Amino acid sequence: MRVGLIPESAFEQMGLWSGEVPTPVLETFNGLLAVRSLMAVCRLGLLDVLADGPLSSEEVARRAGTAPMPTRRLLDVVASQRYLVREGDAYALTPAARRWLLAGSPDSVRDYLLWRYYEWEWVSRLEDHVRTGSCMLGRPELDEQGWDTYQRAMRGLARLGATEIAARTPFPRGASTMLDIGGAHGFLSVAFCRRHAGLKAVVLELPEAVQASAPLLAEEGMGDRVVHRAGDALADDLGEACWDVVVTSSVVHHFTAEECASLARRVARSLKVGGVFAVIDFSRPDVPGGKGQTSALMDLYFGMTSVSGAWSADQIAAWQRDAGLVPRKPLKLRRGAGSVIQAAVRRA
Ligand SMILES: C[S@@+](CC[C@H](N)C(=O)[O-])C[C@H]1O[C@@H](n2cnc3c(N)ncnc32)[C@H](O)[C@@H]1O
Repeated sequence: MRVGLIPESAFEQMGLWSGEVPTPVLETFNGLLAVRSLMAVCRLGLLDVLADGPLSSEEVARRAGTAPMPTRRLLDVVASQRYLVREGDAYALTPAARRWLLAGSPDSVRDYLLWRYYEWEWVSRLEDHVRTGSCMLGRPELDEQGWDTYQRAMRGLARLGATEIAARTPFPRGASTMLDIGGAHGFLSVAFCRRHAGLKAVVLELPEAVQASAPLLAEEGMGDRVVHRAGDALADDLGEACWDVVVTSSVVHHFTAEECASLARRVARSLKVGGVFAVIDFSRPDVPGGKGQTSALMDLYFGMTSVSGAWSADQIAAWQRDAGLVPRKPLKLRRGAGSVIQAAVRRA
């Protein structure tokens, strides 16, 4: 999937074909403001006030407490992005806005868009990263509100993929115990437990994450079937032959190669015979730039924001193999923008 210039008339189409359109001007000007406009309507709550039906821009501004004229301009931008339609003087949400951007929608990525404000700061330092190779956050240096925003954002994303991951991860028959390393809000464990009636899960997370995400887990009403354990996956004892399933989703890109290899060894020891270790993460393309724009951008993003960048499925499988596990073929997630499930089994 790529972002690009989409002509809105035959004249513009011809311009693009002729090569006479200065594409970098539009890609940067339109791109810059389009991204920030979408972030802003979410942060300012301008879409949520439209949840019950169309309103004029003046009424949107009155309810959201914003200035009428800039509000109208912003709504027009978002209408051009097809999240709003104008009906006379009124603006109405499109089905896409209702599904993806309203706070209360089960598929809402609104919280994830609010995380963009943190990423906006990091992206402003891209040149430093490229000049020096510096990484922007080995561990997120976040205050309380930052942790809250981060955990809500991760939950928004996890809700999109958790059902598929729970359905496609190899699952030992009769499994009853699961460890979810770096499981944050716990939504992946929730999805596994909803699918498998006899399963209980422990979500091992950094203390700051547990504090921020405990209310999110409580919202799921899973009682003692999914519980948090505050700790550090790189240092804590994971136990011996006690888990049927160990999963870790979107976590190993935070760790160095040595840390990943050590984690795989400790996970292997902690698994029961027949148990499964599933690593779910963005898989770095084997051929640089070889898998499209999203993949190239994700590779840049992880390189910029985590200690080691993303890993390839082959590298993850190698750690699993070195730990004495038997890796399966990676499964590409349908909704995962280049993410895979790399599972491995503990044989006798
Ligand atoms: C990108 S989030 C992924 C959250 C969740 N697994 C998901 O898929 O939505 C990475 C999580 O890993 C956690 N994490 C990072 N280092 C950790 C460590 N050493 N021990 C436990 N959790 C860790 C972070 O606190 C964060 O919540």
